[in-house]
Amino acid sequence: MSKIRAAIKAVEGYVPDYVLTNDELSTMVDTSDEWIMTRIGIKERRILKGEGKGSSDMGKVVVENLLNKNNLSPEEIELIVCCTVTPDMLFPATANIIADKCGIKNGFGFDINAGCSGFVYGLTTATKYIESGFVKRAIVVGTEKMSAIVDYQDRATCPIFGDGAGAVLLEATEEETGYLDGILKSDGEGRKHLHQVAGGSCYPPSHETIDKRQHYIYQEGQAVFKWAVVKMADVSEEIMKRNNLTANDIAFLLPHQANLRIIDAAAKRLGFPNEKVLINIDKYGNTTSATIPLLMWENQHKFNKGDNLILTAFGAGFTWGAILLKWAI
Ligand SMILES: CC(C)(COP(=O)(O)OP(=O)(O)OC[C@H]1O[C@@H](n2cnc3c(N)ncnc32)[C@H](O)[C@@H]1OP(=O)(O)O)[C@@H](O)C(=O)NCCC(=O)NCCS
Repeated sequence: MSKIRAAIKAVEGYVPDYVLTNDELSTMVDTSDEWIMTRIGIKERRILKGEGKGSSDMGKVVVENLLNKNNLSPEEIELIVCCTVTPDMLFPATANIIADKCGIKNGFGFDINAGCSGFVYGLTTATKYIESGFVKRAIVVGTEKMSAIVDYQDRATCPIFGDGAGAVLLEATEEETGYLDGILKSDGEGRKHLHQVAGGSCYPPSHETIDKRQHYIYQEGQAVFKWAVVKMADVSEEIMKRNNLTANDIAFLLPHQANLRIIDAAAKRLGFPNEKVLINIDKYGNTTSATIPLLMWENQHKFNKGDNLILTAFGAGFTWGAILLKWAI
Protein backbone atom coordinates (compact mmCIF):
# COMPACT_ATOMS: atom_id res chain seq x y z
CA MET A 1 0.00 0.00 0.00
CA SER A 2 1.35 3.44 -0.86
CA LYS A 3 2.00 5.99 1.86
CA ILE A 4 -0.84 8.35 2.74
CA ARG A 5 0.20 11.96 2.20
CA ALA A 6 -1.51 15.26 2.98
CA ALA A 7 -2.15 17.51 -0.01
CA ILE A 8 -3.37 21.10 -0.17
CA LYS A 9 -6.55 21.02 -2.26
CA ALA A 10 -7.60 24.68 -1.94
CA VAL A 11 -6.34 27.98 -0.52
CA GLU A 12 -8.17 31.10 0.65
CA GLY A 13 -7.05 34.47 1.93
CA TYR A 14 -8.62 37.57 3.41
CA VAL A 15 -7.38 41.01 4.41
CA PRO A 16 -9.53 43.69 6.05
CA ASP A 17 -10.51 46.75 4.01
CA TYR A 18 -8.78 49.44 6.08
CA VAL A 19 -5.38 50.38 4.60
CA LEU A 20 -2.88 51.90 7.03
CA THR A 21 -0.31 53.65 4.84
CA ASN A 22 3.18 54.78 5.78
CA ASP A 23 1.98 58.34 5.39
CA GLU A 24 -0.75 57.81 7.98
CA LEU A 25 1.75 56.05 10.30
CA SER A 26 3.99 59.12 9.96
CA THR A 27 1.25 61.16 11.62
CA MET A 28 1.22 58.72 14.58
CA VAL A 29 5.00 58.27 15.21
CA ASP A 30 8.19 60.00 14.10
CA THR A 31 8.87 58.05 10.90
CA SER A 32 8.62 58.37 7.13
CA ASP A 33 7.67 56.37 4.06
CA GLU A 34 11.30 56.55 2.95
CA TRP A 35 12.65 55.04 6.24
CA ILE A 36 10.09 52.25 6.30
CA MET A 37 10.56 51.36 2.62
CA THR A 38 14.36 51.34 2.94
CA ARG A 39 14.59 49.37 6.21
CA ILE A 40 11.55 47.10 6.03
CA GLY A 41 10.03 47.24 2.52
CA ILE A 42 6.43 47.78 3.62
CA LYS A 43 4.26 50.39 1.90
CA GLU A 44 0.97 49.66 3.67
CA ARG A 45 -0.75 47.12 5.89
CA ARG A 46 -4.39 46.22 6.62
CA ILE A 47 -6.15 46.83 9.93
CA LEU A 48 -9.26 45.07 11.23
CA LYS A 49 -11.63 47.74 12.54
CA GLY A 50 -14.80 47.28 14.55
CA GLU A 51 -15.75 46.91 18.20
CA GLY A 52 -15.35 43.33 19.41
CA LYS A 53 -13.87 42.05 16.13
CA GLY A 54 -11.04 39.54 16.49
CA SER A 55 -8.93 36.99 14.68
CA SER A 56 -11.84 34.54 14.50
CA ASP A 57 -13.83 36.98 12.35
CA MET A 58 -11.14 36.88 9.65
CA GLY A 59 -10.68 33.14 10.18
CA LYS A 60 -14.41 32.63 9.65
CA VAL A 61 -14.26 34.35 6.25
CA VAL A 62 -11.46 32.14 4.90
CA VAL A 63 -12.85 28.91 6.32
CA GLU A 64 -16.35 29.62 5.00
CA ASN A 65 -14.91 30.43 1.56
CA LEU A 66 -13.01 27.14 1.59
CA LEU A 67 -16.22 25.26 2.39
CA ASN A 68 -18.45 27.09 -0.08
CA LYS A 69 -16.05 27.14 -3.03
CA ASN A 70 -15.29 23.44 -2.64
CA ASN A 71 -18.88 22.30 -2.07
CA LEU A 72 -18.07 20.93 1.36
CA SER A 73 -20.49 20.81 4.24
CA PRO A 74 -19.12 21.74 7.68
CA GLU A 75 -19.66 18.13 8.87
CA GLU A 76 -16.99 16.97 6.43
CA ILE A 77 -14.20 18.80 8.30
CA GLU A 78 -12.60 16.54 10.91
CA LEU A 79 -9.88 18.85 12.20
CA ILE A 80 -9.31 22.60 12.33
CA VAL A 81 -5.91 23.91 13.40
CA CYS A 82 -5.75 27.64 14.04
CA CYS A 83 -2.29 29.24 14.08
CA THR A 84 -2.30 32.55 15.91
CA VAL A 85 -0.55 34.73 18.50
CA THR A 86 -3.60 36.97 18.66
CA PRO A 87 -6.38 34.61 19.78
CA ASP A 88 -9.81 36.13 20.40
CA MET A 89 -9.26 35.40 24.10
CA LEU A 90 -6.78 33.36 26.17
CA PHE A 91 -9.23 30.47 26.16
CA PRO A 92 -11.05 28.75 24.60
CA ALA A 93 -9.00 28.22 21.46
CA THR A 94 -9.83 30.44 18.49
CA ALA A 95 -10.04 27.24 16.39
CA ASN A 96 -13.17 26.35 18.35
CA ILE A 97 -14.66 29.82 17.89
CA ILE A 98 -14.06 29.72 14.12
CA ALA A 99 -15.48 26.18 13.96
CA ASP A 100 -18.61 27.31 15.79
CA LYS A 101 -19.04 30.36 13.54
CA CYS A 102 -18.77 28.08 10.47
CA GLY A 103 -20.99 25.29 11.83
CA ILE A 104 -18.14 22.75 12.11
CA LYS A 105 -19.42 20.42 14.83
CA ASN A 106 -18.26 17.00 13.71
CA GLY A 107 -14.54 17.23 14.42
CA PHE A 108 -12.04 18.78 16.79
CA GLY A 109 -9.78 21.81 16.82
CA PHE A 110 -7.00 23.55 18.69
CA ASP A 111 -4.66 26.53 18.42
CA ILE A 112 -0.94 26.60 17.75
CA ASN A 113 1.16 29.48 19.02
CA ALA A 114 4.53 29.34 17.30
CA GLY A 115 4.91 33.04 16.54
CA CYS A 116 5.51 33.79 12.89
CA SER A 117 6.29 30.10 12.28
CA GLY A 118 2.70 29.26 13.22
CA PHE A 119 1.55 28.22 9.76
CA VAL A 120 4.58 25.99 9.15
CA TYR A 121 3.99 24.31 12.53
CA GLY A 122 0.22 24.06 11.94
CA LEU A 123 0.53 22.60 8.44
CA THR A 124 3.01 20.02 9.76
CA THR A 125 0.76 19.08 12.68
CA ALA A 126 -2.35 18.64 10.52
CA THR A 127 -0.28 16.67 8.00
CA LYS A 128 0.82 14.22 10.69
CA TYR A 129 -2.82 13.65 11.72
CA ILE A 130 -3.62 12.84 8.07
CA GLU A 131 -0.55 10.69 7.43
CA SER A 132 -1.34 8.60 10.50
CA GLY A 133 -4.87 8.00 9.24
CA PHE A 134 -6.43 9.73 12.27
CA VAL A 135 -8.30 12.17 9.98
CA LYS A 136 -8.80 12.46 6.23
CA ARG A 137 -9.66 16.13 5.86
CA ALA A 138 -8.44 19.15 7.82
CA ILE A 139 -8.30 22.91 7.61
CA VAL A 140 -5.25 24.89 8.70
CA VAL A 141 -5.94 28.58 9.24
CA GLY A 142 -3.48 31.34 10.10
CA THR A 143 -5.28 34.43 11.35
CA GLU A 144 -3.91 37.45 13.13
CA LYS A 145 -5.20 40.75 14.43
CA MET A 146 -1.67 42.03 15.09
CA SER A 147 -3.02 45.57 15.50
CA ALA A 148 -4.42 44.40 18.87
CA ILE A 149 -0.90 43.98 20.31
CA VAL A 150 1.12 46.55 18.33
CA ASP A 151 2.24 49.62 20.26
CA TYR A 152 1.47 52.53 17.96
CA GLN A 153 3.88 54.66 20.04
CA ASP A 154 6.86 52.36 19.26
CA ARG A 155 8.19 53.52 15.90
CA ALA A 156 10.62 50.61 15.53
CA THR A 157 7.86 48.00 15.74
CA CYS A 158 4.57 49.51 14.62
CA PRO A 159 5.40 49.77 10.89
CA ILE A 160 6.06 46.04 10.65
CA PHE A 161 2.79 44.30 11.46
CA GLY A 162 -0.61 44.00 9.78
CA ASP A 163 -3.85 42.03 10.08
CA GLY A 164 -5.06 39.21 7.82
CA ALA A 165 -5.93 35.54 7.46
CA GLY A 166 -5.25 32.62 5.15
CA ALA A 167 -6.31 28.99 5.17
CA VAL A 168 -5.73 25.74 3.32
CA LEU A 169 -7.86 22.65 2.84
CA LEU A 170 -5.76 19.56 3.47
CA GLU A 171 -6.84 16.12 2.29
CA ALA A 172 -5.41 12.61 2.33
CA THR A 173 -3.96 11.42 -0.97
CA GLU A 174 -2.07 8.37 -2.18
CA GLU A 175 -0.44 10.43 -4.94
CA GLU A 176 3.22 11.44 -4.64
CA THR A 177 2.14 15.07 -4.05
CA GLY A 178 1.46 17.35 -1.11
CA TYR A 179 3.57 17.62 2.02
CA LEU A 180 6.75 15.69 1.24
CA ASP A 181 9.06 16.73 4.08
CA GLY A 182 9.36 19.20 6.94
CA ILE A 183 11.82 20.42 9.57
CA LEU A 184 10.70 22.28 12.69
CA LYS A 185 13.02 23.87 15.26
CA SER A 186 12.76 26.02 18.37
CA ASP A 187 15.05 27.64 20.92
CA GLY A 188 13.30 29.24 23.88
CA GLU A 189 16.37 31.29 24.71
CA GLY A 190 15.30 33.62 21.92
CA ARG A 191 12.17 34.63 23.85
CA LYS A 192 14.03 37.51 25.46
CA HIS A 193 14.27 39.28 22.08
CA LEU A 194 10.60 39.04 21.07
CA HIS A 195 7.63 38.67 23.41
CA GLN A 196 4.59 40.19 25.06
CA VAL A 197 5.28 40.44 28.80
CA ALA A 198 1.87 40.81 30.36
CA GLY A 199 -1.57 39.25 30.12
CA GLY A 200 -0.47 35.71 30.90
CA SER A 201 0.00 33.95 34.24
CA CYS A 202 3.30 35.66 35.22
CA TYR A 203 1.96 39.18 34.90
CA PRO A 204 -1.84 39.16 34.74
CA PRO A 205 -3.36 42.44 33.59
CA SER A 206 -3.07 45.19 36.18
CA HIS A 207 -2.94 48.97 36.21
CA GLU A 208 0.84 48.62 36.43
CA THR A 209 1.17 46.38 33.36
CA ILE A 210 -1.00 48.80 31.40
CA ASP A 211 0.99 51.84 32.58
CA LYS A 212 4.21 50.09 31.54
CA ARG A 213 2.73 49.25 28.10
CA GLN A 214 3.46 45.55 28.68
CA HIS A 215 0.49 44.26 26.71
CA TYR A 216 2.22 45.14 23.46
CA ILE A 217 4.91 43.41 21.38
CA TYR A 218 8.41 43.89 22.77
CA GLN A 219 11.06 43.41 20.07
CA GLU A 220 14.84 43.79 19.79
CA GLY A 221 14.86 44.21 16.04
CA GLN A 222 18.53 43.63 15.28
CA ALA A 223 18.76 40.33 17.16
CA VAL A 224 15.57 39.08 15.51
CA PHE A 225 16.87 40.16 12.11
CA LYS A 226 20.13 38.21 12.39
CA TRP A 227 18.52 35.01 13.68
CA ALA A 228 15.78 35.15 11.05
CA VAL A 229 18.15 35.36 8.08
CA VAL A 230 20.44 32.56 9.27
CA LYS A 231 17.77 30.16 10.52
CA MET A 232 15.39 30.45 7.52
CA ALA A 233 18.29 29.97 5.11
CA ASP A 234 19.86 27.08 7.07
CA VAL A 235 16.66 25.11 7.47
CA SER A 236 15.67 25.60 3.82
CA GLU A 237 19.10 24.46 2.70
CA GLU A 238 18.89 21.41 4.98
CA ILE A 239 15.52 20.34 3.60
CA MET A 240 16.66 20.74 -0.02
CA LYS A 241 19.90 18.87 0.64
CA ARG A 242 18.28 15.89 2.30
CA ASN A 243 15.86 15.61 -0.63
CA ASN A 244 18.70 15.94 -3.18
CA LEU A 245 17.31 19.21 -4.52
CA THR A 246 18.88 22.55 -5.37
CA ALA A 247 17.28 25.94 -6.00
CA ASN A 248 17.03 24.88 -9.68
CA ASP A 249 14.55 22.14 -8.74
CA ILE A 250 12.30 24.47 -6.74
CA ALA A 251 9.59 26.43 -8.58
CA PHE A 252 9.06 29.01 -5.81
CA LEU A 253 10.29 29.94 -2.35
CA LEU A 254 7.49 31.12 -0.03
CA PRO A 255 9.29 32.85 2.83
CA HIS A 256 7.59 34.32 5.88
CA GLN A 257 7.13 38.03 5.15
CA ALA A 258 9.00 39.65 8.06
CA ASN A 259 11.16 42.26 6.38
CA LEU A 260 12.14 42.58 2.71
CA ARG A 261 15.82 42.74 3.68
CA ILE A 262 15.49 39.48 5.67
CA ILE A 263 13.82 37.78 2.68
CA ASP A 264 16.44 39.08 0.23
CA ALA A 265 19.35 38.03 2.45
CA ALA A 266 17.94 34.53 3.10
CA ALA A 267 17.11 33.99 -0.61
CA LYS A 268 20.61 35.13 -1.61
CA ARG A 269 22.24 32.68 0.81
CA LEU A 270 20.13 29.92 -0.77
CA GLY A 271 20.92 30.94 -4.36
CA PHE A 272 17.33 31.69 -5.37
CA PRO A 273 16.89 34.22 -8.20
CA ASN A 274 14.43 37.05 -7.45
CA GLU A 275 11.74 35.70 -9.79
CA LYS A 276 11.41 32.53 -7.70
CA VAL A 277 10.96 34.37 -4.40
CA LEU A 278 7.34 35.27 -3.65
CA ILE A 279 6.75 38.60 -1.94
CA ASN A 280 3.70 40.60 -0.84
CA ILE A 281 5.10 42.28 2.28
CA ASP A 282 4.82 45.69 0.58
CA LYS A 283 0.99 45.43 0.65
CA TYR A 284 0.23 43.59 3.89
CA GLY A 285 3.29 43.84 6.16
CA ASN A 286 4.01 40.99 8.54
CA THR A 287 0.73 39.21 9.30
CA THR A 288 2.55 36.60 11.45
CA SER A 289 0.81 33.20 10.98
CA ALA A 290 -1.07 34.45 7.92
CA THR A 291 1.85 35.49 5.69
CA ILE A 292 2.48 32.12 3.99
CA PRO A 293 -1.16 31.16 3.27
CA LEU A 294 -1.77 34.71 1.99
CA LEU A 295 1.25 34.38 -0.32
CA MET A 296 -0.01 31.00 -1.51
CA TRP A 297 -3.52 32.39 -2.10
CA GLU A 298 -2.28 35.31 -4.19
CA ASN A 299 0.19 33.27 -6.24
CA GLN A 300 -1.56 29.93 -6.70
CA HIS A 301 -2.27 30.73 -10.36
CA LYS A 302 1.49 30.53 -10.96
CA PHE A 303 1.81 26.99 -9.56
CA ASN A 304 1.51 23.85 -11.69
CA LYS A 305 0.71 20.40 -10.41
CA GLY A 306 4.00 18.74 -9.47
CA ASP A 307 5.86 21.99 -8.76
CA ASN A 308 8.20 21.84 -5.78
CA LEU A 309 7.68 24.67 -3.30
CA ILE A 310 9.69 25.55 -0.21
CA LEU A 311 7.86 27.26 2.66
CA THR A 312 10.04 28.73 5.40
CA ALA A 313 9.39 30.83 8.48
CA PHE A 314 10.99 32.27 11.59
CA GLY A 315 9.29 33.75 14.61
CA ALA A 316 8.88 34.38 18.31
CA GLY A 317 9.95 31.56 20.56
CA PHE A 318 12.31 31.50 18.73
CA THR A 319 10.75 29.05 16.29
CA TRP A 320 11.65 28.27 12.71
CA GLY A 321 11.11 25.65 10.07
CA ALA A 322 10.80 24.68 6.42
CA ILE A 323 8.44 22.50 4.40
CA LEU A 324 8.92 20.87 0.99
CA LEU A 325 5.57 20.73 -0.81
CA LYS A 326 4.74 19.22 -4.18
CA TRP A 327 1.79 21.23 -5.50
CA ALA A 328 -1.18 18.91 -5.87
CA ILE A 329 -3.78 20.91 -7.84
C1 LIG B 1 13.01 46.73 13.40
C2 LIG B 1 13.97 47.03 12.28
C3 LIG B 1 13.21 47.46 11.03
C4 LIG B 1 14.86 48.18 12.71
O1 LIG B 1 15.79 48.47 11.68
P1 LIG B 1 17.33 48.65 12.04
O2 LIG B 1 18.01 48.90 10.75
O3 LIG B 1 17.76 47.45 12.83
O4 LIG B 1 17.29 49.94 12.88
P2 LIG B 1 17.85 50.20 14.35
O5 LIG B 1 17.00 49.53 15.36
O6 LIG B 1 19.33 49.95 14.36
O7 LIG B 1 17.62 51.76 14.45
C5 LIG B 1 18.34 52.66 13.63
C6 LIG B 1 17.81 54.06 13.89
O8 LIG B 1 16.53 54.19 13.28
C7 LIG B 1 15.61 54.69 14.23
N1 LIG B 1 14.29 54.17 13.92
C8 LIG B 1 13.70 53.03 14.35
N2 LIG B 1 12.48 52.92 13.82
C9 LIG B 1 12.30 54.00 13.03
C10 LIG B 1 11.25 54.43 12.22
N3 LIG B 1 10.10 53.72 12.07
N4 LIG B 1 11.40 55.58 11.52
C11 LIG B 1 12.53 56.29 11.62
N5 LIG B 1 13.56 55.95 12.39
C12 LIG B 1 13.45 54.79 13.09
C13 LIG B 1 16.13 54.20 15.57
O9 LIG B 1 15.61 54.98 16.61
C14 LIG B 1 17.61 54.37 15.38
O10 LIG B 1 17.93 55.73 15.57
P3 LIG B 1 19.30 56.14 16.32
O11 LIG B 1 20.39 55.60 15.44
O12 LIG B 1 19.21 57.62 16.37
O13 LIG B 1 19.23 55.46 17.65
C15 LIG B 1 14.86 45.80 11.94
O14 LIG B 1 15.75 45.55 12.99
C16 LIG B 1 14.04 44.57 11.70
O15 LIG B 1 13.27 44.50 10.76
N6 LIG B 1 14.21 43.54 12.51
C17 LIG B 1 13.47 42.29 12.35
C18 LIG B 1 12.08 42.48 12.85
C19 LIG B 1 11.15 41.39 12.37
O16 LIG B 1 11.21 41.00 11.24
N7 LIG B 1 10.29 40.91 13.26
C20 LIG B 1 9.38 39.87 12.98
C21 LIG B 1 10.07 38.59 13.22
S1 LIG B 1 9.24 37.25 12.59
